[in-house]
Parts: sequence; structure tokens; C-alpha cells
Amino acid sequence: MSDDFLSLSRDKWRELPAGGEILGRTFSGDLLELDDASLIAQWRVMNDAAQIPDVRGWFHCLYSDLFAGRHVVEVGSGFGFDGIHFLAQGAHWTFSDLVLDNLNLVRRVVDFLGLGERASYLQVENERSFSGLKGERADAIWAIGSLHHAPFDIARTETLDLLRHLKTGGRWIELTYPYERWLREGSLPFSEFGKRTDGERTPWAEWYDLEKVKRRLFPSRTTTILDFTTGGGNFGWVDLRIGEINPDMRSSPEIGLMDYPAIAMNKASLKTSAKEWRLVCPNRIWWYGMSIDLKAAMQKLGPRPFPGLSYAVDLELDVQIGSVGVVLAGDHVDDFVGRERVLDARPSAHRVTVMTYDDAEPVQLLVRNTMHGVASQVRIRSATLRFAA
Ligand SMILES: C[S@@+](CC[C@H](N)C(=O)[O-])C[C@H]1O[C@@H](n2cnc3c(N)ncnc32)[C@H](O)[C@@H]1O
Repeated sequence: MSDDFLSLSRDKWRELPAGGEILGRTFSGDLLELDDASLIAQWRVMNDAAQIPDVRGWFHCLYSDLFAGRHVVEVGSGFGFDGIHFLAQGAHWTFSDLVLDNLNLVRRVVDFLGLGERASYLQVENERSFSGLKGERADAIWAIGSLHHAPFDIARTETLDLLRHLKTGGRWIELTYPYERWLREGSLPFSEFGKRTDGERTPWAEWYDLEKVKRRLFPSRTTTILDFTTGGGNFGWVDLRIGEINPDMRSSPEIGLMDYPAIAMNKASLKTSAKEWRLVCPNRIWWYGMSIDLKAAMQKLGPRPFPGLSYAVDLELDVQIGSVGVVLAGDHVDDFVGRERVLDARPSAHRVTVMTYDDAEPVQLLVRNTMHGVASQVRIRSATLRFAA
């Protein structure tokens, strides 16, 4: 199944973004037919367009020193604009790609520029290809617009193999398509979203936010270095330091909470069904509006498979008026066992994850009013309990 998907992808990615946001797309096979001088001239035109500060210039500047003398594995290197830049600045770089022509093209440019000594290449033939990475573990994994083009399960399999080849304390850096972009562009199924973002033949594009990237890396421990939106709101940038690497837990249970009893507090108005919880909070800042008892769900989730894991609840919700806080707590409402997330009203949905501090166990999920003088309103459309690292 995943092999079929990856062959479809391979057919798409013979054609690549040709640098910057102005040159459209080019087939690597067409460039390979050129003689060396014409090939390099054409690659330089594309590379110049890609290097402008607003496109790649800022991150080339940010990471050049960090990568000098270090080994980086790139997932989906395309025309090699990033890897060749960092090679020239002293990095050791492993280019990987689904498409052999893409790799052959990069190899010709790298050799022509005399940078071949610190370069290596891996063709992604199937979802387990990264298990074949050899040699010392890498200092960083670099995935710029690649892994979000595969369904989550395939990308997770690739991710777990890549993690095995990353040093403890190494970096995981990804460019993604944000959730908000997906909402803005029509909330399409991922098989259709790719056509909107990258053209007709694109088999898949999936939104990511920080928490979803971390779920793909689960149960490795991470520290968030950067998490922001760039490219006029079209791209997400996630840079994580990977702590303890424990990629052996392949799946992790999740418990849907919408069937569990939600109780109104402080005379809030609460309407519940299996599809949504509609809450109108009390008209006083900090007053609680609802509580979901998590004891039965925690029992169903079972004990922590290994020490050090936290608990997380992922929520999808529409804040229609005002502002609400969502937080995990112990028996008493003021006994927060994780950080509260405060969400303001906006036209599109929020996705948010609330987590416990390290050893804490949540007893309830609370929602409260966090805006002065307004009875904030929220519609919660999904809530899921799971382990998090
Ligand atoms: C949009 S292009 C980006 C290329 C390059 N990273 C850049 O920034 O220009 C996507 C690249 O990811 C590769 N790719 C797509 N799906 C992949 C997967 N599941 N595993 C590894 N590479 C993949 C494609 O072959 C292609 O080179």
C-alpha cells in the first residue's frame, strides 16, 4: 500500500519547484539532458531565485554556523538548494529523495562545484529506506516541504527510522503547511489539498502544527527551539532539539472524550452531544464553565508504558465570543497540573493541545472564561486523551 503511494509520489516529484516563488516547476530529467555548462548555468539561475532573504536566505543565514562541520540528513532534497548551500559552508550532507533523477542532478552539481567529499546520497525506495542509513549518527534532520507530502503513518515510519540515526541532542527541523492554511484553502481531504498547494499531480499534502510534528516523533522527548509561521502565513517552521530518543513504541492509544460526562459549573449554559459541547461561560473573568471528569478515560488509557511520559488532550474548538482557557487539573479546580491555554474568538477553528507537567496525573479537563466583562462562548468539536513526550 505504502509502496503504491510512494510510486505515485515519485511520479509527481520528478518535477520540482524551480527556485524561489517565481520560476514555476521543472523536471529534473530535462535538466539532466543538458551538458555540464548549461546544466550548471540553469541550476544557478534557479538557485539565485531560491536564495533571496524572504525565501531561503533567512534560514541559510540562521543555520550556516550551526551546521558547519556537522552532519545533516536531508529528507526530500529536490534540486539541492539547501544542502549545496550548507555543504559550501562546511557541513557534511546526506541528500535523500524519492526520485533518482533528482539525486543524480544534485550529484552532478555537487561534483561540478567540487563539494563531493562531504556529500552522500540515499534514494528513498520505500518507507523503510532510512533504516539503511550508515555511519555515525547525524546532528540534524532537515525536512523542508517533504514529509507533509506523505500520509501521517508513512511519514511516521520514515521519522522513526530517521530518529534512530540522530544523535541525542540533535535537531529536527521541518518546513510544513500550517493548519490555518489548510482551513483557509477549504479544509480539503489531504489527497485534494496537495493539488491546491503543489499542482494537479500532487497525491498528498497534510497540515502540521507543532503538536502534530511532535506526535510523529513520539515518544522521543523534544525541546521546542522555534515554532512560527513564515512565507506570508503559508509555511510553518518547526525546530526541535531531540532529547532522549525512544523510537520503539510504534503506536500509542487515544481515547475520545466526547462521550464522557461534561458538567456545567457556576450556572454556565452547557449543551452536550456526542458531536459537540456548546458552552456559554459565566459572565465573570476566570470563572469556570465546565469540567470533564477524566478518571474513567484515564483508566481506559491504562498505565504509562514507561516512566517520564506526560498526558495530553487534543482539542478542536470554535471560540465564538470572548476568550476561553483550557487546562488539565487535579481534584481541585485550582490545582492545575499543566499550563493553561488561552484562546481568543476568531472565525476559524482552533486546534490546541493541553499537557500535564512531567509526573502529574490529570483528574479533570476544565474550560473557563478568560475575558473581562463578556460571557465567552465556545463550541468544542473533539477532545482526545493520549500520552505525550
Ligand atoms: C516540494 S519538494 C521540496 C524539495 C526541497 N526540499 C526544496 O525545499 O526545494 C518535495 C520533495 O520531497 C520529496 N518527498 C516527497 N515525499 C517524500 C517522502 N515520503 N519521503 C522522502 N522524500 C519525499 C520529493 O521527492 C521532493 O523532492
